[in-house]
Amino acid sequence: RGPRSLDGLSVLVSAGPTYEDIDPVRFIGNRSSGRMGFAVAAAAVQAGARVRLVAGPVALATPAGVERIDVRSARQMRDAVVASAADSDIFISAAAVGDYRPQAVSPAKLKKSGKALALELVQNPDILAELAAQAAHPFLVGFAAETNDLEHYAREKLERKGLDLIAANRVGEELGFECSENALLLLWPGGREELGMAEKGVLAKALIERVATLHAAARGK
Ligand code: PMT
Repeated sequence: RGPRSLDGLSVLVSAGPTYEDIDPVRFIGNRSSGRMGFAVAAAAVQAGARVRLVAGPVALATPAGVERIDVRSARQMRDAVVASAADSDIFISAAAVGDYRPQAVSPAKLKKSGKALALELVQNPDILAELAAQAAHPFLVGFAAETNDLEHYAREKLERKGLDLIAANRVGEELGFECSENALLLLWPGGREELGMAEKGVLAKALIERVATLHAAARGK
């Protein structure tokens, strides 16, 4: 496909971590910097798409031509994604969405008591799975962050979440999160492509090309 492979299409991207508040000054978060998702949003603009980016708390400039919606928690991210999904052709979920949140947010700063403190956590909504369950939904691209058995777990997530494509990356110390380079294994029903270690901008372009090809094939059916 050509350089404007997403011409006329609307692409929704999520990026960054979510923060789940414990009290007014503390939260549970993760190490996502947002770089991968921001690079995907920039690559989609370059491919000619109209791009909306739902961003968790990150310290990154908005890529040119991207409409950005800032959120903090997984539930806020869910609401923003669901609201925008209805008129999106493609959703690319690069955000590291927190799977759990504290059951209650303390209105006052928690005090030290000299004893152990237990936090009760409840599960957050699974945004991708919720979209996949809707009768009409965008072409769904997930990410899979795994420390081990990458292909096995990613293929399982592709099938369980009912996705059209999954971009799997190995994560750990100095891998996947925060750094400027990454490696991706792309898996879709009946296919795979390995994208070796490269700058996230380079990987994002290759991912967008694969998305454009698969989306066009699905639309032509
Ligand atoms: O932000 P960077 O520092 O550049 O790092 C990039 C990255 C490692 C965060 C990124 O490449 C990545 O892998 N993002 C997905 C991280 C993740 O949460 O993976 P997961 O395997 O836990 O989730 C699988 C998929 O379900 C993801 O597409 C995720 O966005 C989505 N999900 C997860 C939980 C949830 N409650 N709702 C979801 O939609």
